[in-house]
Amino acid sequence: MVQNDVANMSLADEGRRRILWADSDMPVLAQIRERFAEEKPLEGVKMAACLHVTAETANLMRTLQAGGADVRLCASNPLSTQDDVSAALVKYFDIPTFAIHGEDNETYYKHIYQAIEHNPMLTMDDGCDLVTTITKERPELAETMKAGMEETTTGVIRLRAMFADGALKYPVIAVNDADTKHLFDNRYGTGQSTVDGIIRATDMLIAGKKVVVAGYGWCGRGFASRIRGMGALVAVTEINPIRALEASMDGFAVMSMEEAVKWGNMFCTLTGNCSVIRQEHFEQMRDNAIVANSGHFNVEIDLDALEEIAVKKNEGIRNNVDQYILSDGRRINILAQGRLINLAAAEGHPASVMDMSFAVQALASEYAVKNDLPLGVHSVPSGIDDTVSRLKLKALDIEIDELTDRQKQYLSSWQEGT
Ligand code: ADE
Repeated sequence: MVQNDVANMSLADEGRRRILWADSDMPVLAQIRERFAEEKPLEGVKMAACLHVTAETANLMRTLQAGGADVRLCASNPLSTQDDVSAALVKYFDIPTFAIHGEDNETYYKHIYQAIEHNPMLTMDDGCDLVTTITKERPELAETMKAGMEETTTGVIRLRAMFADGALKYPVIAVNDADTKHLFDNRYGTGQSTVDGIIRATDMLIAGKKVVVAGYGWCGRGFASRIRGMGALVAVTEINPIRALEASMDGFAVMSMEEAVKWGNMFCTLTGNCSVIRQEHFEQMRDNAIVANSGHFNVEIDLDALEEIAVKKNEGIRNNVDQYILSDGRRINILAQGRLINLAAAEGHPASVMDMSFAVQALASEYAVKNDLPLGVHSVPSGIDDTVSRLKLKALDIEIDELTDRQKQYLSSWQEGT
């Protein structure tokens, strides 16, 4: 008998209701689940998944299980676990789950060890903590590992660094880099859920706020466009000149963080890098600034520096808000301890967008089992993008045109010109 570790089994009924509600907006994954139940492409495959434990993730676990996988789940962030979902996964869906909302670092890693106790041959990560834990602490597992899947930009960056360093010990598929993942999940999912998290944490009016968006990757541009849609004045900070130009021509103010801290009253980091907002920035911020992060790790806001210069900290002045007081009385409000605001204060990306991301995860798992991948960080095969986008269009009742024979011929010829 597997020992699960979840917070409160009495929440299981509510968790099941939310899982089924999410499922009603995940038609692509549901279709894959039906096929998996018939074909069993993952029969007997032991899997460990380290993901945000949400209603949407529960539906991915159900899909892998329907395909025959023996899958265990642990959290990929201490604050993103939905305790009702983890209880339901154990009670109603028979998925061994190790995740408690608010768990400390030690418990977080204990849960990772429990998720890999059955010697998995596939891993599924959101942030690469499974791969790095196996590499550093259970290297013998890597020898029999078939492949891994990685969900997020930050994780893919870590994997490429591991490969370049000679540290990567088994092949991994960069699910994040599939078009049907990052063009939708990172942009529309993070865009909406980050606004949602900030509003749930602060209950503040967005219209007229001066919002500074750090980073203009897919997540940053999604958030910038959504918060502007609610009436905020938006400035973007960047280190990449091309992205800075894009932000400018998309109609955003672009400035350095040094300038932005004197201008803005709400800040959100979505860069994937560390120390984006640091001591010299806190020192210049306006009174009552709101500071949040929606990047994967809690390293984008230098909280140690803020702790150092603050004369007082009012912890939890509101759910998910800690207020720091500087020596001249200015107040700086940090949301969700600098952890990813969309999952810590809200429910993460809505189901409809996770439908596509997790459809890619399920199909990439099948692909990894059926193929022998060499060591490296692999792209998702384009056929999977094609399948997922076509199934999603069908579910949305959207028809598109097909190339005529004349158009196909035109595209494959070079003789015709002016
Ligand atoms: N990452 C962002 N939103 C998510 C969600 N709803 N479920 C799982 N992972 C996520």
